[in-house]
Formats: sequence, structure tokens, C-alpha cells
Amino acid sequence: MPERRVILKNCGVIDPRRMETFLNNDGFKALTKALNEMTPDSVIETIKASGLRGRGGAGFPCGLKWELARKAPGDEKFVICNADEGEVGTFKDRYILENDPFSLIEGIAIAAYALGARQAYIYLRAEYHYLLELLTKAIAQTKEGGFLEHVDIQIREGAGAYVCGEESALMDSIEGKRGEVRYRPPFPPTQGLWEKPTVINNVETMMNIPQIVLNGADWFNQIGTDRSKGTKVFSVAGDVDRPGVYELEMGSQLKELVVDLAQAKKVKMLQIGGATGKIIPHTMMDTPLSFETILGAGAITVLDESRNIVDAVYHTMEFLAEESCGKCAPCREGTEALFGIMEKFNRGEGTERDIRHLEDLANAMMPSSLCGLGQAAPIPVVDSLQHFRSEYEDRIKQKQGGAAK
Ligand SMILES: Cc1cc2nc3c(=O)[nH]c(=O)nc-3n(C[C@H](O)[C@H](O)[C@H](O)COP(=O)(O)O)c2cc1C
Repeated sequence: MPERRVILKNCGVIDPRRMETFLNNDGFKALTKALNEMTPDSVIETIKASGLRGRGGAGFPCGLKWELARKAPGDEKFVICNADEGEVGTFKDRYILENDPFSLIEGIAIAAYALGARQAYIYLRAEYHYLLELLTKAIAQTKEGGFLEHVDIQIREGAGAYVCGEESALMDSIEGKRGEVRYRPPFPPTQGLWEKPTVINNVETMMNIPQIVLNGADWFNQIGTDRSKGTKVFSVAGDVDRPGVYELEMGSQLKELVVDLAQAKKVKMLQIGGATGKIIPHTMMDTPLSFETILGAGAITVLDESRNIVDAVYHTMEFLAEESCGKCAPCREGTEALFGIMEKFNRGEGTERDIRHLEDLANAMMPSSLCGLGQAAPIPVVDSLQHFRSEYEDRIKQKQGGAAK
């Protein structure tokens, strides 16, 4: 199946520095339609009927989130666009921000109208500082064009923490606090930023909004699978000839993306969804890409036959131990302990007992950690032991260290 460009349709077509090029490509038609022909409730109904699910990783139904926030009591509400994109191997949001900032602004402006929010924020990954000027200018042009009379959009820059992509830590960060995960409930739609009802959506989720408003829920509903509607934008990196950003219809096979488009050769394993994502062997390349199977935020890292799984997991655990926010003990201590054991394997000192410790730690961390970081941190360990256990065992037998570092 070839690429299907719905979200990326303007990328490489418009000039992201000139709003008139966006206007020439149906720009702000959806916002104009929403503001003039639809009530906030009918916008929400349309998004609900479309079946759009969040593209930031968890796949939460977008319309339902908006409805909860709209119905939550209070006059002051907020919209946040999550452009933190800290997941290892992800760069699809960056591509969107770089190439089509106006569609993103349009999506945010529609969300604000639907919610009754007069203030919106784009939380921009610290490493994307170079995009600040482009985005600021795009917002200014949109305002001058008269499209933002109902909402003010501001940019807040992150400070470089992976955990600040997690929605509650992100809101703490916007509030000027150290970014740490909050206890929940309450959830953001009822008590989010400054304890006010807040909708927080990923960049790619927001990009779907103008398309759905313009073309209708039925149109969107016909793309994708039963429970995963629309297209998905993927970042493919690692051992491939053509790394990059690709957009495919939901339900396309992994091999269509990785082999046909990204030109991977001699694939050994794939990490789907970043550092805390699933690791699968090449034999599972027929898997359809959807929320029902595997998806995450759409980061795919391909490792070829020259790679060793123990080295790959070592690096992942090093990252997660470094990035745990430290608020809850299972994640703070657990990620350090997992990394400590991976370090033993890297020195050639791993034992059978260490494998059991890895499994025990994983079982303890997953149900008890406060957020997705600690809950999912053991996944690479668990998956690698399930599919590539012999590589751990070889290291034990041969008392051999790794190539990591
Ligand atoms: C450790 C961690 C990091 C996250 N990083 C991001 C991120 O960089 N971008 C993002 O959109 N969502 C990220 N999320 C998910 C957000 O918490 C949240 O679910 C998402 O922004 C909601 O938007 P959506 O409904 O449009 O997917 C992260 C979650 C966790 C647990």
C-alpha cells in the first residue's frame, strides 16, 4: 500500500513562512466553517463520530476528552498542544511543525472554539527551539489574518525532560514548576492546567481536526480499521536505507512501512513506540499497524542482524533511568535497578539469577508506577527476554561483555 497523505498533505507544498500559500490550499476553511456554521457542541459531536483517537501514544478518544472538558464546570478552560516529542526515535511532530504550522494552529483554534477556551498553549520540546521563530511568526500571521479572535495561542518551551511529554508533568512545567507526574484522578479535562478544565492533545491529533471538520466524520470513518480510524504518521529510523517520516492508512502492514517505504534490509528486530515501546522480531512484520495491535506514538526503530538485543536494551534502560522524574519509588528505583542489571550484562557478569531479577522487577514496576514511564519501562526487557532470551543466555555462558558504550 502506498503512502496516503492526509495529515502531511501540505508538507512540501506550502511555504510554512507564508500564510497566503496555506490559504491557497484550503487553509482556514475548516476553522471558518466551524466558527460560522457549527456550534461548539456540533464540532464535538463530529469529532466523536469520526472515531479519532489521540496520536500521542495512549489512543484516547479525542471527542470524548473534549466533551468532558466542555461539560466540566468553570468559565476558564485551556487547550494545550503537546509538541514535546521526547520519545526516542520520534520526529514526526517536528516534521509537521517545520512544514505545516498553520494546519496545527487551525486545529488548536477549532479545539479552543469547541471547548470555550480563550487561552491555548503549544508546549514545544526544548530541542526544537529552532522552530520557535517559525511558529511565533505563523501565529502572528494567523492573528493578523483575523482567524484568532476567539483565542490567544502562546508557546511554552520545555527544558529538556522526557517526562514533561507526559501530560500532567507537562502542565506542571507550564505552571513554572519542576515537571513531575501528578496523582490522578483528577484528570486534565476536569482539573488540568492551574486546576482548570484542560484538553491536551498531541500535534498529530490536532492536525486531524481541520480535515475532519472540513470533510465530515463519515469521510474520516471510512479510512483505517474498525477501531483505528484515519491515517498514522510514522518516524522510521535505525538500520534502513530511507529513514524518514511516512503517512499510511491505519491497518497497513509493518513491512509495507519498513521494507517497502523505508527500505530496510536484513531486519532482525523492531522497536515500536520508542524507549518504552514493544520489541518484536522480524517474523512479525505482517502485523497491521493499528491501536488494536501495535502503534504507540509511531516511532519505529529498525535493528538489523548486526545488532545484539542486550546492547539495545542496555541503551534503552540507561535512557529511562536517567529520565525517570523520581516522584514514585517503583519507577525511580526500578529503572535504576533494571539498568544496573543491564550494566552487569554489558560487563560480561550477567547470571541466570539476574534474568529472574529482571523479570521480578518488571512484574513489580508495571502495576505500581505512577505514570506510563515506569509502567512501560520494563517492556523492552520483557519483550527481549520473550523473543531473544538466547542472547542473554549466550552472554552468561561466554561471560562476554557487550559492545554498548
Ligand atoms: C513518559 C511519557 C512521555 C510522553 N511524551 C509525550 C510526547 O512527547 N508527546 C505526546 O503527544 N504525548 C506524550 N505522552 C502522552 C501524553 O501523556 C498524553 O497522553 C498525550 O499528550 C495526549 O494527547 P492525545 O490524546 O492527542 O494522544 C507521554 C506519556 C508519557 C507517560
